[in-house]
Amino acid sequence: MSVVALVPAAGRGERLGYGMPKALVPVNGVPLLTRAVRGLFASGQVQHVVIAAPPSDVDLVHTATASLAPAGGAVHVLSGGAERTDSVRLALDHALRVIPDTSIVLVHDAARAFTPPEVIADVVAAVRDGHDAVIPVLPVADTIKQVDEVGVVVSTPDRAALRVVQTPQGFRAETLRAAYHSGIAATDDAGLVEKNGVAVHTVPGHAHAMKITTPFDLAVAAALLSGGQQ
Ligand code: CTP
Ligand code: MG
Repeated sequence: MSVVALVPAAGRGERLGYGMPKALVPVNGVPLLTRAVRGLFASGQVQHVVIAAPPSDVDLVHTATASLAPAGGAVHVLSGGAERTDSVRLALDHALRVIPDTSIVLVHDAARAFTPPEVIADVVAAVRDGHDAVIPVLPVADTIKQVDEVGVVVSTPDRAALRVVQTPQGFRAETLRAAYHSGIAATDDAGLVEKNGVAVHTVPGHAHAMKITTPFDLAVAAALLSGGQQ
């Protein structure tokens, strides 16, 4: 029974503004996508990685990542879609077609390139323990306000009950397949599963699993590395 990680990496990285797809942006000479894939395999729990690559860079990504798989595993690369959900759907359909023994599916953003392998292993372990859907989360540090369309505060949700969501998000393969074929739309994978009536379990996330979105985030990542992590 295989654990398969889908890696949406087809975004353009417009907010980063680096002039190339974000997944290919290097930190200390190693592209974010390479770091993300290394982390998945380093968890010791993932056999296959399916990358939804920028359409213009499928061959490049294939060459750069093929050697990262451990014995008995593989990296698969396909062209991503217009939106993140399209990329995940394409990668999921590919995985279910070419890896017939897929039992657990992770969805992990290439942009969360510094996620500790322990977090990845914890997500897989929780799915193995019987949870249909599992997400890593962090407590909310700031107070959150709900505002109306002109920016006036409507309410102040209780921060103690709020969580920031990271990836990898883990699912029983059939749970994610059913959600993606339900015709329901949602912006994140666990949200989609949740709308399909599935309970979503949480495990502790990690500050290093932050999403690289802006130049500030990239500077934080570079500082992390200069602090000793490679
Ligand atoms: N992604 C994808 N396919 C898309 C859009 C996004 O696979 N059509 C991926 C990105 O490559 C990234 C993850 O989804 O790993 C999260 O998206 P985001 O952080 O928004 O990345 P980008 O879309 O590249 O950034 P931006 O929105 O700033 O352009
Ligand atoms: Mg985006």
